Amino acid sequence: MKNQLLYRILARYYDFIFSSIRDFKKEASEVTRLIQLYKKSLGNELLDIGCGTAEHFRYLSKNFICTGIDTSPSMLAIAKKKVTKAKFFNADIKSFNLNKKFDIIISISVLAHLKNRKELKKAISNMSNHLKNGGVLILDPSINQQSLKTGSPYLSIYDGNDIKIARATIYNKTGKKATFDMHYLVAKYGEKKITHLISPHKLMLFPQNEIINSLKEEGIKSIRVINNWSKNRHTLIIASKKSI
Ligand SMILES: C[S@@+](CC[C@H](N)C(=O)[O-])C[C@H]1O[C@@H](n2cnc3c(N)ncnc32)[C@H](O)[C@@H]1O
Repeated sequence: MKNQLLYRILARYYDFIFSSIRDFKKEASEVTRLIQLYKKSLGNELLDIGCGTAEHFRYLSKNFICTGIDTSPSMLAIAKKKVTKAKFFNADIKSFNLNKKFDIIISISVLAHLKNRKELKKAISNMSNHLKNGGVLILDPSINQQSLKTGSPYLSIYDGNDIKIARATIYNKTGKKATFDMHYLVAKYGEKKITHLISPHKLMLFPQNEIINSLKEEGIKSIRVINNWSKNRHTLIIASKKSI
């Protein structure tokens, strides 16, 4: 519920702010390269869990038959308008059942929204149930938080013609949890007032071995880890039920 609130506020600014700190085209092309390298199943059906505004589908939908799920209706509304040939469902990583299996499952920056190990196990079990034999599962648990230290200020800016956004926080991490308020100042063409939004973040930074152990418990034993796989991104875990 809290996530829905977070992304209801964020959705309309998500693409502006994240396009200034991430390179979705490059991320999609790296994901494509890894799929070509590791996928052994013959199909091209791709499921993105926590697809958000479908920025990756803008590129991935050229080569793959794309389905996205997300819990945020506001993010999904943008995704549906953006990539009309993809299918989208409002569904939760912890409980979804699409009654089919995919050649590729990706989930980028979503696992950090889960609350605990039990939820992580449930999510991984659902992903495993939807993955074909020889299919690949590509997981990026969270943004690169390695470099972020408690108390350090953080700022990102989107400087468009008709909209300017400043996004700032003071990072706070306790144990495996990062808890901080992200402040947005939005100045829009034609508006008299600047909008100030505060979006609370509560992220779970699962250690890599917890994710890998959960995958192994699901019978997914063929696992590769790639570090610093893209700008501002940290770890990508690639897994398959067949050896890769
Ligand atoms: C940081 S965004 C990442 C979106 C996209 N994957 C990307 O890389 O731009 C996290 C997304 O996960 C979704 N999300 C959060 N918790 C979820 C859950 N339990 N099941 C499915 N989606 C979830 C949010 O609504 C949001 O769209």
